[in-house]
Amino acid sequence: MSPEQIPDLQDYGPEHLDAAFQRLSEQLAAEAPALHTPEDREQFRLHWLGRKHGRLKLISDAWLKTAPSEARKALGQHFNRLKQQIDLALETETVNGQARALEEDSVDITLPGIRPALGVEHPLVRTMIEIVGIFQRMGYSVGVGPEVETDYYNFEALNFPPDHPARDTQDTLVVAKQEHKPLRDRLLLRTHTSPVQIRTMERQPPPIRIVIPGKVHRNDAADATHSPIFHQVEGLCVDENITFSDLKGTLDHAMKELFGSSVKTRFFPSFFPFTEPSADVQISCIFCGGKGCRKCKHSGWIELLGCGMVDPSVFDSVRGKQPGYDPKKISGFAFGMGVDRIAMMKYGISDIGLLYSGDMRFLEQFA
Ligand code: PHE
Repeated sequence: MSPEQIPDLQDYGPEHLDAAFQRLSEQLAAEAPALHTPEDREQFRLHWLGRKHGRLKLISDAWLKTAPSEARKALGQHFNRLKQQIDLALETETVNGQARALEEDSVDITLPGIRPALGVEHPLVRTMIEIVGIFQRMGYSVGVGPEVETDYYNFEALNFPPDHPARDTQDTLVVAKQEHKPLRDRLLLRTHTSPVQIRTMERQPPPIRIVIPGKVHRNDAADATHSPIFHQVEGLCVDENITFSDLKGTLDHAMKELFGSSVKTRFFPSFFPFTEPSADVQISCIFCGGKGCRKCKHSGWIELLGCGMVDPSVFDSVRGKQPGYDPKKISGFAFGMGVDRIAMMKYGISDIGLLYSGDMRFLEQFA
């Protein structure tokens, strides 16, 4: 043990211990500000803490062994303090004479990167695109219309006369303070996508094959199956000699594309002011295959959309602008389906509110 490595310790009296450790502490304090690079620090660490030849080890070998038992406690405390000072020096860097905590290396380029999450379609949008695609492959084009609609397009042109009880089936959210306007010009949030039937026919003569996806609103209380906002895909086909068979064949094909080729459809008499005759389309339950289960209320069938042959009064609404819509020469069918309901069935979603919650735990399942 070389003398310059280990200070002399004449005896173990407190003054001698204090003086010896004071010298060590001063040496340490003199070396610490020179630690700049990781290599400096490693040298310093080995010099003081090295397991074999580190100063702490040499000193404890030299002093502790020969120390009388009454000096051991004080010696131990001195060692601890010295060790703390070394540790602190290793965690400190001196910049412009100022000591400050060493910054951790901020970039470890050997770590795998954080993959940025890719956005995906919302399940509603995905379902809407799928439905629209099925009709596009049958030759349909795609249209859109305004979500804030006039009473005329949402109701009157579709053969809902003012004050007619059929309006009650689609309770409306209206834009306030419009009482000064004639009823037909008052604005409301559309209750269905059917007004876009009228807007489309006003713009273009027959033949027409169009699907219209979009958001609709109704004054409904929210529960597991109702939301005041929901989505529909409307369809309209007008040409010469369009019959109810065309309607049945088209929707039967669409349902098989959407839910699988084993799905059956059936058409039930219904009522809509803008179609005559009207029907509700039911599909064989996709959960039990038609045997009857809780989901289909043990009927084997699930009601999915409304449809019918375009009522001549609807053609009359547009004939002023497009004389081609003459019910004696052309005919057509229309249908409207709820996208939310279809998405819920396809993806096994039990609460419609999840589609509007923005909850990432729900949405991430579709990524
Ligand atoms: N617009 C109707 C509804 O929202 C659905 C429908 C569309 C029915 C087209 C017939 C024809 O309930």
